[in-house]
Amino acid sequence: MTWPCVKGTIILKAGNPQEEDGALDYAAGILKNGGVVAFPTETVYGLGANALDPQAVEKIYRAKMRPADNPLIVHVTGMEQVKELVRFIPGEAAVLAGHFWPGPLTMIFNKKNLVPDITTGGLPTVAVRVPAHPLALKLIARAGIPLAAPSANLSGRPSPTTAEHVLEDMAGRIAAILDGGPCSVGVESTVLSLLSSPPVLLRPGGVTLEKLKDVLQTEIRDLTAGQTVDFKGTPPSPGMKYRHYAPRAPLYLVEGEGPEQKRRLAALSENFTRQGYRVGLILFEESEGLFSAPVVKVLSSRREPHLAAERLFAVLRCMDSLDVDVIVAEGLHEQEMGRAVMNRLRKAATKIIKAT
Ligand code: TXA
Ligand code: MG
Repeated sequence: MTWPCVKGTIILKAGNPQEEDGALDYAAGILKNGGVVAFPTETVYGLGANALDPQAVEKIYRAKMRPADNPLIVHVTGMEQVKELVRFIPGEAAVLAGHFWPGPLTMIFNKKNLVPDITTGGLPTVAVRVPAHPLALKLIARAGIPLAAPSANLSGRPSPTTAEHVLEDMAGRIAAILDGGPCSVGVESTVLSLLSSPPVLLRPGGVTLEKLKDVLQTEIRDLTAGQTVDFKGTPPSPGMKYRHYAPRAPLYLVEGEGPEQKRRLAALSENFTRQGYRVGLILFEESEGLFSAPVVKVLSSRREPHLAAERLFAVLRCMDSLDVDVIVAEGLHEQEMGRAVMNRLRKAATKIIKAT
């Protein structure tokens, strides 16, 4: 089998059963030998390596240019593998695993010594999840090792939801990409810590806070509400203090709902246009037609935030490829998947305007 190759990075197509077996074998071989392979999950593409091999994990940090204190999520096939990595599984974690695994929920546990410090950015805790993408599960099983995998973007850039996005950032930096087509959820997993009481939401994501509360029937402390990257002191999750998900053009996020939000969006967009900038607008369907600009991308209806999540990172990358000078984005309510969408937009933003 010959696979296409860009700057030394092999693209392993796994779109049909014939291609899949050979692609998985090749990818698993690289992983077993301490190499790095990007692979699809239901949320975004991950940059995988053997979580228990410090040298393999070091290659992930280097490929991503990721700060060494930002820990990685370890991907496993199920509870049996979790038990090998962590000291103790709180009852609530077992309940949530039963409901949401495989799926976009990451939980924080106290780690065993077997998990190297580099994987956890020096923390005594480890983040673990069971991804729901069949290729991810098959790859972990075939490699026979837990896979440390951050999102497969260069640090600070929008997360990749297609193999093409991974290639934009990683060609020549990693051995291979397992191409399983576009990701369905579109934003990363929810990160939850059950190590304190009440449990703490560290990153909103594919499993909504509402669903977690429904299952646990307890309060969950949301440390991410209204969060920007301007963190005072030590953040509870290292990822919280870094600017993320950012397209190259500066992004102005206009938060709020109703007429004041629309007025501010129009004023900003007109101002930039008058100054000679090529403006890219990110809007919801309900506002389409109210504004015009050289580039307009619609995420979804305001009533379907899960569709906005699915499209968000692709739209941010698209703004780069369409060469806009400045992006003006419309904010959304912070309920259900709207919470994850707003979290990512805030972290991508250069400036946030509160129009409420
Ligand atoms: O959906 C996802 O979670 C994707 C796919 C590939 O699985 N992965 C992902 O990884 O988003 P990454 O590295 O981009 O984000 C991991 C987040 C970071 O914000 C990091 O700070 C946090 O999880 N994290 C990891 N280990 C932690 C720990 N021990 N304590 C607190 N936060 C942790
Ligand atoms: Mg990431």
